[in-house]
Amino acid sequence: MPILTLLLLILPLGFFINPSVSDSRGATVAQICSNRTTPPQQRSLFVKTFLAAMDAVSPLVEAKGYGQVVNNANGNLTVYAYGECIKDLNKKDCDLCFAQIKAKVPICLPFQRGTRGGQVFSDGCYIRYDDYNFFNETLGLQDRTVCAPKEITGVNRTVFRDNAAELVKNMSVEAVRNGGFYAGFVDRHNVTVHGLAQCWETLNRSGCVECLSKASVSIGSCLVNEEGRVLSAGCYMRFSTQKFYNNSGNSTSDGNGGK
Ligand SMILES: *[C@@H]1O[C@H](CO)[C@@H](O)[C@H](O)[C@H]1NC(C)=O
Ligand SMILES: *[C@@H]1O[C@H](CO)[C@@H](O)[C@H](O)[C@H]1NC(C)=O
Ligand SMILES: *[C@@H]1O[C@H](CO)[C@@H](O)[C@H](O)[C@H]1NC(C)=O
Ligand SMILES: *[C@@H]1O[C@H](CO)[C@@H](O)[C@H](O)[C@H]1NC(C)=O
Ligand SMILES: *[C@@H]1O[C@H](CO)[C@@H](O)[C@H](O)[C@H]1NC(C)=O
Ligand SMILES: *[C@@H]1O[C@H](CO)[C@@H](O)[C@H](O)[C@H]1NC(C)=O
Ligand SMILES: *[C@@H]1O[C@H](CO)[C@@H](O)[C@H](O)[C@H]1NC(C)=O
Ligand SMILES: *[C@@H]1O[C@H](CO)[C@@H](O)[C@H](O)[C@H]1NC(C)=O
Ligand SMILES: *[C@@H]1O[C@H](CO)[C@@H](O)[C@H](O)[C@H]1NC(C)=O
Repeated sequence: MPILTLLLLILPLGFFINPSVSDSRGATVAQICSNRTTPPQQRSLFVKTFLAAMDAVSPLVEAKGYGQVVNNANGNLTVYAYGECIKDLNKKDCDLCFAQIKAKVPICLPFQRGTRGGQVFSDGCYIRYDDYNFFNETLGLQDRTVCAPKEITGVNRTVFRDNAAELVKNMSVEAVRNGGFYAGFVDRHNVTVHGLAQCWETLNRSGCVECLSKASVSIGSCLVNEEGRVLSAGCYMRFSTQKFYNNSGNSTSDGNGGK
């Protein structure tokens, strides 16, 4: 497929999304690309398979909040794709979030290299494609822990750290108990820390336990910062001084403060 056609297929998505509609939940937090590439003679076929997989995953996410696709319409070349919205997003915000990150995926796939895998994390949704079945992967080689650069100020640090540590530990337990999702806060001694944890839908219970327990340990390196995130092959975890999640609806667990 000519490069121009590819650009025409992909770029408009990115241009017509109005970023002011939703909040920042669709903004890219990290884009992680595989280092495996496609040999030149297979590139156009790979791109074609990739695009078909991407097209197939959106309606699934729109219908039920997540979806996985296996496209092997082109013989040996198989593209696996997965998308999911974090469970506190309503449908409208989910659709918008997913459109935003889906438009970013091709950055991993410059036609010149035909990169075989890529992931985009935002704070509201997730997308990944790869050339192997990664659906039950709990931890990945490219998992990341990202601490906000700014350290906390204006509150008692010891209290903040204790609250944050308790929150991330509890989140990993509560999310598993709650079908893979938890959003809530710890509010003690006048210091509030908010957090959210999400296992991807494809993990079973023990996979979710493994991923989140690892995440709750890794995120410990961020506990003097205003915010921390773990971006993992099987799950997502975040804490913040800000309430960034939506628990105004009833569909999600409203973590009690444990005051
Ligand atoms: C690709 O990445 C993996 C894991 O990050 C690494 O072990 C491997 O050496 C890399 N391969 C190449 C060719 O860079
Ligand atoms: C499939 O893979 C085999 C072995 O790697 C190769 O010989 C064959 O040409 C491939 N077929 C296609 C359609 O790429
Ligand atoms: C859960 O998934 C993991 C990873 O795929 C697998 O190793 C394990 O056997 C599964 N456990 C159960 C109870 O199905
Ligand atoms: C994931 O699932 C695949 C296919 O069901 C299986 O072959 C593989 O061993 C599983 N991976 C792990 C880590 O359990
Ligand atoms: C922070 O809180 C701890 C426990 O409540 C208290 O012992 C300590 O004196 C406080 N530190 C400051 C600087 O207020
Ligand atoms: C919390 O803040 C309120 C009002 O600022 C204050 O009256 C109270 O003593 C504080 N409590 C603690 C445990 O610091
Ligand atoms: C929060 O969820 C409620 C109920 O689903 C919805 O009405 C509201 O628009 C959502 N707010 C945000 C900021 O997502
Ligand atoms: C929310 O939960 C309350 C108490 O469980 C229930 O009475 C109410 O109907 C629920 N609202 C919605 C919109 O589900
Ligand atoms: C965290 O878990 C501990 C032990 O289960 C419990 O005592 C505490 O209330 C929990 N905190 C929150 C914020 O849920």
